Amino acid sequence: MSTTLSIRRPDDWHLHLRDGAMLEGVLPETARHFARAIIMPNLVPPVVTGDDAAAYRDRIMAALPEGMSFEPLMTLYLTEATDPADVAAAHAAGLIHAVKLYPAGATTNSASGVRDLARVTPVLEKMAEIGLPLCIHGEVTSPEVDIFDREQVFLETVLDPLRRRIPDLKVTLEHITTSQGIDYVAGASGDIAGTITTHHLMINRNHILVGGIRPHYYCLPVAKRSTHQQALRKAAISGNPRFFLGTDSAPHTDPNKESACGCAGVFSATNTLSCLAHVFEEEGALDKLEGFASLFGPARYGLPPNDVRITLEKRDTPVAYPPKVETGAGPVTLFDPGHPLHWHVLD
Ligand code: DOR
Ligand code: ZN
Repeated sequence: MSTTLSIRRPDDWHLHLRDGAMLEGVLPETARHFARAIIMPNLVPPVVTGDDAAAYRDRIMAALPEGMSFEPLMTLYLTEATDPADVAAAHAAGLIHAVKLYPAGATTNSASGVRDLARVTPVLEKMAEIGLPLCIHGEVTSPEVDIFDREQVFLETVLDPLRRRIPDLKVTLEHITTSQGIDYVAGASGDIAGTITTHHLMINRNHILVGGIRPHYYCLPVAKRSTHQQALRKAAISGNPRFFLGTDSAPHTDPNKESACGCAGVFSATNTLSCLAHVFEEEGALDKLEGFASLFGPARYGLPPNDVRITLEKRDTPVAYPPKVETGAGPVTLFDPGHPLHWHVLD
């Protein structure tokens, strides 16, 4: 027996493509199913200026295989030295679609991030004036704050005060992992939205730690307890346009993950759509998938939804996803939801 679902082609509103051989290896995995993606700027060195973003966009387009189409939506990495005029010019040229705030030290390649928000106020005020969204990695970095509390504490001590200081700033709270994050975004006045990853809908912290440590489930923000996972699921299927898909697919090679000090990041580009259809079906909400994956993100970023459609088909035979994607930089293990996936994406 098969069931089909046709939706507009989705976009990914939070994606790590990296550079060089890794970029070449992972880009087709996203471009196969997604029309566009917000491209994270945490390269080494980071994508800081408009010129950096233009050069990175060109490298992405050069890495795209013949016959595939994909539009990278570029972002800038906010530093304490970012020039508001450069940001405004890159936005006016249609080059960038957001600026990314990493609190310094919060995650992979965040050392050039922001230590003192007061130092970036002129940039944030300019962004509020021109309507350019700020994408936020919402975690505090103080060593005394428990890693499972870092998102919640960020909401109270950083995000809310920031939004009170600059109420016109458009904010996207990225990869929400807590019920507090969901409640904040759902309830706040003003221009705020939140992205939710595929993996945070499918795993909670038990998946990382019970029965052995699973480095491929480790990411930041780290998955929280199951009640938070349930809150994320509820938000994703709610039909509230403030919540939409940002996979945070973040490839690291297996040696870098399977290590005494493994990198944070889950690589889910390849099977995200099958995973999402599984989750939305489990929740009895397949009719809400198109809004989450294909409609609310474009609306938020002032872009039209994609005209092209894709079809998902549920079959008795599971999809044969490879366990790893082999890249020129090394093997990258694909997110394993822990059970077969029956939703096939038809081309
Ligand atoms: O798990 C993560 N990986 N979280 C991030 O914020 C960064 C990302 C990466 O770049 O690997
Ligand atoms: Zn990310």
